[in-house]
Amino acid sequence: MYVRATGMKYYSFLRELHASTLFDWYMEIGCRTGTSFAPVRSKTIAVDPFFRVDLNIIGQKPALHVFQSTSDDFFESGFLQRNGIRLGLSFLDGMHLFEYLLRDFIGTEAASDPKGVIMMHDCAPGNFVMTTRDLSAIKGAWTGDVWKLVPILQKWRPDLTLTMLDLRPTGMLCVSNLSPGNTVLQDHYSEIVAEYLDQTIESFGVERFFDLFEFAPAAQMLEEGFPLFQPVALDPASALKPTLHST
Ligand SMILES: C[S@@+](CC[C@H](N)C(=O)[O-])C[C@H]1O[C@@H](n2cnc3c(N)ncnc32)[C@H](O)[C@@H]1O
Repeated sequence: MYVRATGMKYYSFLRELHASTLFDWYMEIGCRTGTSFAPVRSKTIAVDPFFRVDLNIIGQKPALHVFQSTSDDFFESGFLQRNGIRLGLSFLDGMHLFEYLLRDFIGTEAASDPKGVIMMHDCAPGNFVMTTRDLSAIKGAWTGDVWKLVPILQKWRPDLTLTMLDLRPTGMLCVSNLSPGNTVLQDHYSEIVAEYLDQTIESFGVERFFDLFEFAPAAQMLEEGFPLFQPVALDPASALKPTLHST
C-alpha cells in the first residue's frame, strides 16, 4: 500500500526555511517558474534548461547565478569547482528519472560542505501511475522513478543520514552527513543503473519500499527551528538588506 505524505505543503516549508535560515550557497536544479527559490536569501545557483519566470526571483539574494542548461551540462562546465563553491543547501528537482537524479546527487555532493544538506523532491510516490519512466505517458503529478534513490543510497552509502520529510504531496528526501570526496556512487554508477533500470516500484515491492523509511514530521522540524539545517547555517544577522541607492 502506498503511504501518503500528509504533512505541510513543500512550498510552505521552503518559504519558512528560507525566512529563518541563511546559507552561504544554495543551489536548485529544476526551477521552471522560480517559485521554490524566490524566497531564498542566500547566494543562489539556479539550473534549468527551460525557465519560465515572471516573479521577483532576486529578492534579498546577495548573488544569483542562473544557468539555462541541463544539470549534466552545468556540472560539466566546472563552475562550482572553478569558483571554490561549497554548497550549504541544495534542492534537486530536475529530471525525475533516477539515473539523472543519481548524477545530480553525485555532482552536488562533490561540491557540498560536509555539514550541508541535499534535498531531493518527490521520492515518495503516491501511486503507480506517477512513477512512470515513459515521458509521453505523464498525466498530472509525476514523480518518475526517483524513489529508487532511497534503496540505492541505503545500500551504497550507509554513511549518509537520510530523512524523509512528510511534505505534501510526495515527500522530500533530505541527505546529510555528506562526504564530498566519496566516489563510491560514481565508481559503481553503471552497475547501479543496470540493477535498477527495469525495476518498477511494484516489482521492487510497494510495501518493501515504504518499509525502508518513516516519514519525519516537517511541522515539528519547523517548530524546532530546522535543526537538520543548523550545522551549515550562517548567522541570520548577516542577511543582506538591499537598500535603494537612487530613485
Ligand atoms: C518539477 S519542475 C521544478 C519545479 C520547481 N522546483 C518548483 O518546485 O516550483 C522540474 C524542472 O526540471 C527541469 N528539468 C528537466 N530536465 C532537466 C535536466 N536534465 N536538468 C535540469 N533540469 C531539468 C524542467 O525543465 C522543469 O522545469
